Amino acid sequence: MMHVTSEATEALKRAASRAAENAYCPYSNFPVGAAALCDNGDIYVGCNVENASYGLTNCAERSALFAAVSDGRGRGDFDALLIYTPGNACHPPCGACRQVMAEFLAPDTPVYAVCDGEAVRVWSMEELLPDTFEYPTREPGE
Ligand code: THU
Repeated sequence: MMHVTSEATEALKRAASRAAENAYCPYSNFPVGAAALCDNGDIYVGCNVENASYGLTNCAERSALFAAVSDGRGRGDFDALLIYTPGNACHPPCGACRQVMAEFLAPDTPVYAVCDGEAVRVWSMEELLPDTFEYPTREPGE
């Protein structure tokens, strides 16, 4: 798995927990924050944005990646992604987010889950979603 310094993961945790304060989650009351680290050191954050039509909710992970892409970042530009959830348990990302993450994160990119306690979990992108669906016209790894 690609290595990320503890200074970088601490910065990601601060950024993600701050982003969670902006979560729009009147239905679940579960504020989530995410922070994506780019290879030039830039950090993009996202929070969950819920909707009265529940299925339209955007998770924090997708919000962070979409913010990065909206600012010109792309496939392969990411060194790490970190997810912050409140409470004392780390929450792995949902299935929809895994597919979106796999679009932009290389298989060996680390994905961290942190919470208010000391617990930390980390997976490679490939561990979270092996055998990723790729668009039929794209060669694997392209
Ligand atoms: N949520 C995220 O933001 N990320 C995840 O990986 C799982 C769930 C959000 C969606 C919803 O707003 C709330 O958490 C409860 O499911």
